[in-house]
Amino acid sequence: MSLLRILRPTTARRNLLTSSIRYKHTLPDLPYDYAALEPAISGKIMELHHSKHHQTYVNSLNDAEEKYSSAVSANDVQGQISLQPLLRFHGGGHLNHTLFWENLAPKGSGGGEPPSGILADAINSTYGSVEDLKKRMNVTLAGIQGSGWGWLVKDKDTGALQVIAMPNQDPVVGKYIPLLGIDAWEHAYYLQYENRKAEYFSKIWDVVDWKAAEARYKAAV
Ligand SMILES: [Fe+2]
Repeated sequence: MSLLRILRPTTARRNLLTSSIRYKHTLPDLPYDYAALEPAISGKIMELHHSKHHQTYVNSLNDAEEKYSSAVSANDVQGQISLQPLLRFHGGGHLNHTLFWENLAPKGSGGGEPPSGILADAINSTYGSVEDLKKRMNVTLAGIQGSGWGWLVKDKDTGALQVIAMPNQDPVVGKYIPLLGIDAWEHAYYLQYENRKAEYFSKIWDVVDWKAAEARYKAAV
């Protein structure tokens, strides 16, 4: 056997190496108890939202990645393309919820305290005040038909702040950097607020942790 033959792994061995080092996504722990965001968000909603809904996105993302990896190994381009909507949905669900949990904090631990520093300056110069930004986001959230998210983002090209809506679990990627996301899916509020979606959008600001948004904004400067 030549030295070249020894150094070049067979296809089977290459697949084994690839699969053995593939990273599995896991559900992030919350830095607060499920009930810690009450009364803005009930403990039952938080428990279901984190331990069931988010866990399902994580499991399904891992499953889709496993299948995608097999399709790549098999040089199955059709298979790879057909898996992309699943990767977008479950990968987006995992990314969005991970950012969302970081954006929340109990009252007394930063929840509801207004932003400060350069993010506050940017908000005031763009929207007039934090209260005006909240109104803008709530209008955007109320306008989402079906399931989706409202985001405060920073435009990478211009540096400007923007409020945008994203459908389903589409993640904020490309030209925008996500600073603050609000989940407008029914699973985020229905058990507590039922059809009173606007009330949920109003109350959630009591537990928004602007420090996470400030850190993302500073990292993007
Ligand atoms: Fe959600």
